[in-house]
Amino acid sequence: MTALADLLLARIARDGPVSVASFMAEALMHPVHGYYATRDPFGAAGDFTTAPEISQMFGELIGLALAQAWLDQGAPDPVTLAELGPGRGTLMADVLRSTAAVPGFHAAARVHFVETSPHLRALQAARVPQATWHDRVDTLPEAPLLLVANEFFDALPIRQFVRASAGWRERMVGAQDGQLCFGLSEATSLAMLADRLGGTQDGDMVEHCPALPGIIGTIADRIARHGGAALIIDYGDWQSLGDTLQALAGHAPADPLAAPGHADLTAHVDFAAIAAHIGNTRHTRLTSQGVFLERLGITARARKLATGLTGAALDAHVAAHRRLTHPAEMGDLFKVMALYPATAMPPPGLDP
Ligand SMILES: C[S@@+](CC[C@H](N)C(=O)[O-])C[C@H]1O[C@@H](n2cnc3c(N)ncnc32)[C@H](O)[C@@H]1O
Repeated sequence: MTALADLLLARIARDGPVSVASFMAEALMHPVHGYYATRDPFGAAGDFTTAPEISQMFGELIGLALAQAWLDQGAPDPVTLAELGPGRGTLMADVLRSTAAVPGFHAAARVHFVETSPHLRALQAARVPQATWHDRVDTLPEAPLLLVANEFFDALPIRQFVRASAGWRERMVGAQDGQLCFGLSEATSLAMLADRLGGTQDGDMVEHCPALPGIIGTIADRIARHGGAALIIDYGDWQSLGDTLQALAGHAPADPLAAPGHADLTAHVDFAAIAAHIGNTRHTRLTSQGVFLERLGITARARKLATGLTGAALDAHVAAHRRLTHPAEMGDLFKVMALYPATAMPPPGLDP
């Protein structure tokens, strides 16, 4: 039992069961015991590895795609270069290195990070000291915005609902015999899930991310009014169905309720929900990460980097290229969608 499980059990005994979203929020972001608040979960010694941690090629190509979008829109100066949930700061460090030769880009770009974990903010500051940090997207500058979010939306808390006739029962976290357990609320009708009544039947589970509409709405509003582009990369699909809540500890799947605060929790990203909140911007077609990176030239970049490598370093480099792009690895599971102004063309590598 973790310290956070004890706190949650006491809260449930006092106030009753909590939503899956409240449970996720505590497990990931509790200021003392939360997963992200207390540790560096990335890499071989942590619980998972993300694309920027696998190879520098990922951040380099994202950087060049954003810089091309900036050039295509007349090279506005200043421009906000923002990242949501920057982890160790690796992606932005690679973005900045690959764009150093783009004339005028660094002089115009102001780096902004949206990050709630003080522990990860310290790691980010070591890599990208010039950044300005925000708790929320709302305080990003009123200026043209180039934004990247890799594996950010999958960390946002979700609520889960099970269809019951014309209504929905919410999946809750309660307690039994001193342990956390799942249960279901009474059925209610919910206007926000009206569009999910088509295409589902009794017993189906759907998920809803309460924070997503506000975050996407704010980003889309900045891009519609000032220009720019947002690249959203995550695992998920157009519209997920079923239970996608997943816990990872030590690179292996775990029981989400077993050790709150000690395991990473994620849920698939519902890209249809993103597309529903883009206001006056446009969104590109949902494209698999493998196709996107190939279109941006990852294989040519991989060949160039390979020329200086031999032995184990070369093997690791080849494996990293495969891991990022191959459909059986991250290539298909991860998807990319961009938001861009109605008056501009989509960022490179993506179709309108
Ligand atoms: C799975 S990590 C991804 C890190 C990085 N983007 C990468 O690809 O390596 C999720 C990141 O989002 C941050 N995060 C999670 N929820 C957040 C929230 N509500 N607001 C701001 N940052 C958040 C975490 O602290 C962490 O930096």
